[in-house]
Amino acid sequence: MIGVFDSGLGGLSVLAAIARALPRADLLYFADTAHLPYGNKSDAFIRGRVLAIGDRLAELGCRLLVVACNTATAAAITELRQRHPELTVVGVEPGIKPAATSSRSGRIAVLATESTARSERLKRLIRDHAGHVRVHVEACPGWATRVEALDLDGAEFAAEIAARVAPLLADGTDRLVLGCTHYSFLAPQLQPLLPPGAELVDVAAAVARQVVRLAGNHTAGSARLELHASARLERLHAALPRLSLGWLVQRIK
Ligand code: DGL
Repeated sequence: MIGVFDSGLGGLSVLAAIARALPRADLLYFADTAHLPYGNKSDAFIRGRVLAIGDRLAELGCRLLVVACNTATAAAITELRQRHPELTVVGVEPGIKPAATSSRSGRIAVLATESTARSERLKRLIRDHAGHVRVHVEACPGWATRVEALDLDGAEFAAEIAARVAPLLADGTDRLVLGCTHYSFLAPQLQPLLPPGAELVDVAAAVARQVVRLAGNHTAGSARLELHASARLERLHAALPRLSLGWLVQRIK
C-alpha cells in the first residue's frame, strides 16, 4: 500500500495525481488535522509529527510513503528515511528546477509557508538549480489555513492573494512556483492574475511520475483508498467534492 500524508488537505493534490497515474494501486491518505498548520511551527515540532505519522503508516502496512508536504519534507525527510530504512520515501519540494529552466525573464518566485521559506533545504535547492536566475521567496502566512477552511472564493482572500503576487509579476516574474501543496487548490485564483507568458509551477504530476517509477508491485492492487485523519475525519471526506476531487470517492472502501 502507498501512504500519502500532509498536515491537512493540501496533499490531496498529490494524492489525486498518484491516483490518476496508478488507477489500480491501494492508497492511504493521512491528514494531520489535529496539528495543522505546520508552516508556522518549529522544525522540532514538525519532525516529531512526521516521525510519528511514519511509524503509524508503516504499522498500517504502507511500504512506500509520500510526504505530500513541502514543509514536512524540508524539516524532516532525512530523519524519516533514517528511522525507516525499510520504506521507500518520496518527498515534495518546490519546483525550482523546472521554473528556472523554463523562465524566459530570468525571474522566478516561490510561494511557500514560513517554515519552508526559511529552510536550508530550499536555499540548497535554489543554489543547486537556479544559479542563473533571480529567485524571490515569498512566505504566505495563513494561506494553507484558508484552504483548510475551504475559504477559497472570498473577496477578501482574493484581494490578499492579488496583493501578494502583483508586485512579483510587476517585477517581471514569469514562473510562480507553488511551494506548498495546499496552494495547488488556489490555482483558479492565481491563474487569472498571470500576464501572458507567465505560468504556475506545480510538481504534483512530477511527484506522481516518481512514485510510478518506484512503486514496483504497489501498482497492482484493488484500487482502494483509505482516508485517515488525526481529527475531524468527516471534513476530509466532505472536502473532496469541494476541491473537485469527487471522483476519488468511488475508490474509498
Ligand atoms: N501542505 C503543506 C506544504 O506543502 C503545509 C501546509 C501547512 O500545514 O502549513 O508545505
